[in-house]
Amino acid sequence: MKLEITGINHTYDVDVLKDLNFSLDNHNSIAIIGVSGSGKSTLLRLMSGLEKPTSGTIKINDLSVDNPEYKKHVGFVFQQHNLFPHLSLKRNITLILEKTRNKPKEEAEETAMKYLKLLHLEDQVNKLPKNVSGGQAQRASIARALSVDPEIIFLDEPTASLDPILTHEVLTAVEELKGLGKSFIFVTHVLSFVKDFADYVIYMHEGKIHECGIPDILENPKTNELNEFMKKVR
Ligand SMILES: Nc1ncnc2c1ncn2[C@@H]1O[C@H](COP(=O)(O)OP(=O)(O)OP(=O)(O)O)[C@@H](O)[C@H]1O
Ligand SMILES: [Mg+2]
Repeated sequence: MKLEITGINHTYDVDVLKDLNFSLDNHNSIAIIGVSGSGKSTLLRLMSGLEKPTSGTIKINDLSVDNPEYKKHVGFVFQQHNLFPHLSLKRNITLILEKTRNKPKEEAEETAMKYLKLLHLEDQVNKLPKNVSGGQAQRASIARALSVDPEIIFLDEPTASLDPILTHEVLTAVEELKGLGKSFIFVTHVLSFVKDFADYVIYMHEGKIHECGIPDILENPKTNELNEFMKKVR
């Protein structure tokens, strides 16, 4: 994946992201870490095109994220699964494929089953989200994000609402997706997952990319702030 962030500022009532300039090539699994309020989710939303920056541009794989074409290439997994509550896990996926990708019913069904199986949910497909575990629902959201075959999957703390066992279960399932040839950009507080899965780490501090590099930076931080952060989260 190629990522180019140029002159990004983002303001709500205060400046949340401050003059970000950053480029990266040939990394396919990027972790964003940092304390609460440092701007991780904001950066992720801007990169995924869900929100427009106050100023600046973001290009991913040479496509500007505000290009309508870009939406077709990305999937998003949120902190809380946002499955339709009145639809089965399978229907949650087939509906998207039929309505947004014009897939015929049979093909939608086949694709949904393929990704539900990949996330080890083949025996849960007809259940409503409320009747499966939090980890299963989150895995179904990941299956749904994958089902439209995006190039890039964004995940914002996908395990934040889960206990340690379900967290492990979901993150292991994500690690198994490594071979799919997709790119991942994710926010997480689970550093073991960052070390296992990320090939690049962005450390956010007070609305800036304060330190970044291969996951080794977690072992040998250059800045005091990352050093302090690592002490706290260990
Ligand atoms: N929609 C919004 N309206 C106003 N302020 C916002 C909005 N979203 C985020 N902020 C503010 O922007 C700052 C950065 O928020 P952001 O959600 O990006 O942080 P974060 O690093 O993801 O934090 P956390 O780890 O708690 O999820 C915070 O001060 C937050 O209060
Ligand atoms: Mg956040």
